[in-house]
Amino acid sequence: MNIIKVMDYAEMSDYACDFLMNKMENLQKPVLGLATGSTPEGLYHRLIEKKVSFRNVVTFNLDEYVGLDRKNPNSYYYYMNDKLFNHVDIEMDKVHVPNGSATNLEKECHDYEEAIREAGQIDVQVLGIGVNGHIGFNEPGTAFTSRTHIVELDVSTRQANSRFFDSMEEVPTKAITMGIDSIMDSKEILLLISGHSKAHAVARLLEGEINEDFPASVLRRHKNVTIVVDEAAMSEVKENK
Ligand code: PGA
Repeated sequence: MNIIKVMDYAEMSDYACDFLMNKMENLQKPVLGLATGSTPEGLYHRLIEKKVSFRNVVTFNLDEYVGLDRKNPNSYYYYMNDKLFNHVDIEMDKVHVPNGSATNLEKECHDYEEAIREAGQIDVQVLGIGVNGHIGFNEPGTAFTSRTHIVELDVSTRQANSRFFDSMEEVPTKAITMGIDSIMDSKEILLLISGHSKAHAVARLLEGEINEDFPASVLRRHKNVTIVVDEAAMSEVKENK
């Protein structure tokens, strides 16, 4: 893993933006895997500011809540439009976010995998990490062999995400997520990590065992991962002290 230590969130976002722009320039039809949450917001903001063209870009988002309509401001479909797609020249038929309102969710999972395969696999997958080590919505205990599937969300994940909702009761209990093996199929992974709340997760990612109790640990088996991590998030890593 290539570890890039940066000072803070702003520097992480700058680095991620330059990294992605460089990759996009060198690909004829870039296939990007995108993430939601607070972490990539700065990256998206910079891509918009720099007027990066998304004309030939195909995107696949990692995950979506089950049961939230796409018009719901807490849905990840809404988030992506709001934070990125509405402000760039992407063609919306090239955008893929799992449909958490699909009547047949199993079919939706299957079709999502198929669409990624048809696009020729993801060139660069942008990832964040949960405080419990989740990637996408793959919670601790998820099989490393998992493909796109429906999950029960951890209480810790629902608590962390409740800041976006009026109450904890409103946070969905289920989600649809690309599986760990689906993520590992990406040709390259860009993992962004910022802030004290992630310090324990970073220490475990870099120094802990590779096992399904800590989903992100699987990334140590991937051949092409860049981690951009700020000082606060590095603060519990032993060799950094
Ligand atoms: P965050 O979420 O970017 O809002 O911290 C990351 C994640 O849970 O994967």
